[in-house]
Amino acid sequence: MCGIIGVVQKRGDVAPFLHQALKRLEYRGYDSVGITTVANGHLYMKKERGRIDEVHRKLNLDDLPGSIGIGHTRWATHGMPSMLNSHPHFDCKDQIAVVHNGVIDNFLELRSKLSARGHTFSSDTDTEVIPHMIEEFMNEGQDLKTAMKNVALQIEGTYAVVAMTTREPDKMCAMRDGNPLVIGEEEGVHYISSDIPAFLPKTNKMILLLDGEIATLSADGVEIEKISDATKVLREAIKVSWTADQAERGGFPHFMLKEIHEQPDAVKNTLRIRREVIAEAAEIIRNADRVYMIAMGTSGHAAVAGQHMFGSLAGILPVPELASDFSDTVYDRLSSRDCVIAITQSGETTDTIAAAKYAKRLGAKVVAITNVVGSSITQNADYSLITQAGPEIGVAATKTFLVQLTVLAQIALALAETTQFIDDYVVSQKRAGLLRLPEIVSETIARNEERARTLAAAYYDRPSFLFLGRGVSVATAKEGALKLKEIAYNHAEGYSAGESKHGPIALVQDGYPVVFVVPRDGTRSRMIGNIMEMKARGASILSVAERGDEEICGLSTQYFEIQTGVEPEFSTIPFVVPLQLFSYYVALKKGYDPDKPRNLAKSVTVL
Ligand code: G6P
Repeated sequence: MCGIIGVVQKRGDVAPFLHQALKRLEYRGYDSVGITTVANGHLYMKKERGRIDEVHRKLNLDDLPGSIGIGHTRWATHGMPSMLNSHPHFDCKDQIAVVHNGVIDNFLELRSKLSARGHTFSSDTDTEVIPHMIEEFMNEGQDLKTAMKNVALQIEGTYAVVAMTTREPDKMCAMRDGNPLVIGEEEGVHYISSDIPAFLPKTNKMILLLDGEIATLSADGVEIEKISDATKVLREAIKVSWTADQAERGGFPHFMLKEIHEQPDAVKNTLRIRREVIAEAAEIIRNADRVYMIAMGTSGHAAVAGQHMFGSLAGILPVPELASDFSDTVYDRLSSRDCVIAITQSGETTDTIAAAKYAKRLGAKVVAITNVVGSSITQNADYSLITQAGPEIGVAATKTFLVQLTVLAQIALALAETTQFIDDYVVSQKRAGLLRLPEIVSETIARNEERARTLAAAYYDRPSFLFLGRGVSVATAKEGALKLKEIAYNHAEGYSAGESKHGPIALVQDGYPVVFVVPRDGTRSRMIGNIMEMKARGASILSVAERGDEEICGLSTQYFEIQTGVEPEFSTIPFVVPLQLFSYYVALKKGYDPDKPRNLAKSVTVL
């Protein structure tokens, strides 16, 4: 969703950098773009609805003077995508510029009060109240920081806000409550952004800004204090292990394809997380009376698979819940004896953070699984496990899904060791199976990519697909369907094959594509029954099956093959890969950009 970048440096124009940084934030999803700089006592601005490249062709985003500036990509919430609704937003005198990510819930009330006092508004956004409120406080003699702190006391909702003014032209202020902001530090230059990749080509040193804090950035330094009581915050910069190359396409036509190909390494690196680190999370989970897994989107599918892994290997049955519905489902029946595992690759999904905060308020322990060090979820968790996928830029999650599954598998095995639900010998077999997965995923990509392209060419124009699995493969089926829907816009539903007779089968007629996920596990014979039922109604059967499973391949119109030797509990890890590739090639065949699906955002930072 909205992306923010701000830069303060001593000399040299910042606009070209802001433009490039906004390109690196494109993956968050957006509909408009804008840049403002300060120079010679004026604010200079270019903003417009549309893709950054289009807007740049029209307006030349590099051509603004000044060594201090802010940029923004907007994902519309209040007010349609338009030039006037694009950020930055200004005060009445064009002296204060503001960019914002989040939602100001009480903006209507604030806006009508400001209008009554003579302020004029040029957009329909909730954001625009902020520069006008800052203007009022500064007119009373306050500096920018104090004015922003006073704004924070009056606005309700969630926000990451960055502001600058011609009245203090050598600095900018940034504050947050509920939406992400990180500070980048380089000799003589400071950056503020919604996400690390924006400034990664310049520096990997970052300072976290936490909820309820305000930072003042100048070329020489950063000062952070608490908004509530002005306590100074001294926080060391940390070095992130991500490199700028990881956030580039590296010769691949799209980030999504690059990230699919990075999966073997992502899984391998995640398997290197130390056993003690995993064991500590397992201990919290094992000591809990009830265990929930909360997540959204693809991470929600990891939770579904995680339930099966914990259940079958450790005899612990967590309840997977959508984070957005969590408080409506548990009815406050959580206590300090319960544990909530929050799974979120970005660590910034507002629903997941809200659910984690809710769980903590009721006393439950929160274990976070995330790919981003220092992300908001880690600040709201008792214990965090950081997956090792590196930055994921494609909106459709791929490698972060595989590493979430890998961590859940590691926790399941750590739990199995203590619960003794399965023999130690079996645990060691499963562990060996987990270690084989990077190589199996690599082989899966090599073996199936061309087939995915061929099948995409044959099936891309089918309006609707069913994806079916049983047991842990329900998660695989759901994720396969989600990928196709997200990036290629074909209607697709992921279902339990058992449930398919209770509705979805009504869709099936001659040539209707049904994708079956059939690892060699305890569900296989029942899956064969489901395949027969669908065949009897004329369905085209596309399956993902183990290599050499002639029965399944024989029953299928087309199939993808996965190397033998996959432990059934972990089968989602390789079996989902051909489905990712299939969706990618369907999107390409239909002429869509798989990295930037319409209406979607990489991290959803509004409720
Ligand atoms: C968005 C993204 C999905 C992601 C979901 C949850 O919808 O487009 O790819 O699965 O958010 O994100 P999270 O960062 O919490 O895993």
